[in-house]
Amino acid sequence: MAISRKVKSTLNGASWVRRMFEVGDELKQIYGEENVYDFSIGNPDLEPPPSLKKALKELADHPITGMHRYMPNNGYSETRRAIAEYIKEESGLPFTENHVVMTVGAAGGLNVTFKALLDEGDEVIVPSPYFMEFKFYIDNNGGEIRLVETNEDFSLNLEEIEKAIGEKTKVILINSPNNPTGVVYSQESLEKLGALLKRKSRELGRTIYLVSDEAYRRIVYDGVKLPNFFQFYPHTIRVTSHSKDLSLPGERIGYVAVSPLCEEADELISAIVFANRILGFVNAPALMQRLVAPLQRNSVHVREYEEKRDLFYNALTSFGYQVVKPQGAFYLFPKALIDDDLAFVQELQAKRILTVPGRGFGKPGYFRIAYAVDRKKIEAALPGFKEVAEKFRA
Ligand SMILES: Cc1ncc(COP(=O)(O)O)c(C=O)c1O
Repeated sequence: MAISRKVKSTLNGASWVRRMFEVGDELKQIYGEENVYDFSIGNPDLEPPPSLKKALKELADHPITGMHRYMPNNGYSETRRAIAEYIKEESGLPFTENHVVMTVGAAGGLNVTFKALLDEGDEVIVPSPYFMEFKFYIDNNGGEIRLVETNEDFSLNLEEIEKAIGEKTKVILINSPNNPTGVVYSQESLEKLGALLKRKSRELGRTIYLVSDEAYRRIVYDGVKLPNFFQFYPHTIRVTSHSKDLSLPGERIGYVAVSPLCEEADELISAIVFANRILGFVNAPALMQRLVAPLQRNSVHVREYEEKRDLFYNALTSFGYQVVKPQGAFYLFPKALIDDDLAFVQELQAKRILTVPGRGFGKPGYFRIAYAVDRKKIEAALPGFKEVAEKFRA
């Protein structure tokens, strides 16, 4: 066998999101792109802010000598400074450029963070349902994922988290706004989580780290203000990117920021920078670092996602679907109307509607809708959702 047994077994259980995406491609070939309603993958449909395109043109017309060369593994200091100033203002904490490392998206950021933190067998607690790639990122770096259930409304279940913390716990990874549920964790639950982690770290005699995946941090609705995670716990590491807020997922630009309140911040940053180098990322894309530096306070027009959320949520609930109303990201995670989420997703497929079964996120019995698509697609798909609901509710 050419490939490793481990990769082989992983490939056999390939991602449900990718699988559905591929089914979609087949359907599109048969019925034509416009007749397939693809809600399988979270690929932002909005264009980046016009200012980014302007800056890109400006750079192309007036190139800076050396702008394509190697750089320090943590990235350009101008970019890190711009980010640090923004986080400092947001959190009131003394962030400097030395607390920030530019990364190859949030995915690269999570991998370098885990490489820096984990020893073989260390556990990472992850509330479920969850973004399945986490499992691989943790495993890539020698760790083990430890899933904990969330509450019925997908809020953090602190009792379950407390029960899961043990001798092997090194990290808790949270993701808010959440993929796949769209839920935003409340200030109160984060305060309690911070208090719990302080107490447990004391009891264990070593630090548990809080890794906060904030890939959707700017995609929030209903006037909700995303709590600042750095305020609740000193040993907090933010991992984020501009894939969603500036609609740049193909450009692979993100960053990791370590709280200045973390006593080991310097050592941790050195380890993250080293991991950036040896995992082969070397540094985040140069051109993108220059372009996103002045855009830290910008984002795509979030109201457009919010309108799509409203359209979809109102329609689905009127058809009888049970859905927790998401306050962020661009996903809905309704209950399937039959126990078997895969069979349910296949019923939708028969209407040329592509979604992802909940088992793809560790939560069978549900399904995920990614609605970062043209509004017309949503409108055209709604009758199909209604027909399937009528079939199973009769
Ligand atoms: C929760 C979550 N974290 C991380 C990522 C990876 O983001 P990036 O494209 O910035 O690597 C995604 C992408 O969809 C995501 O949903």
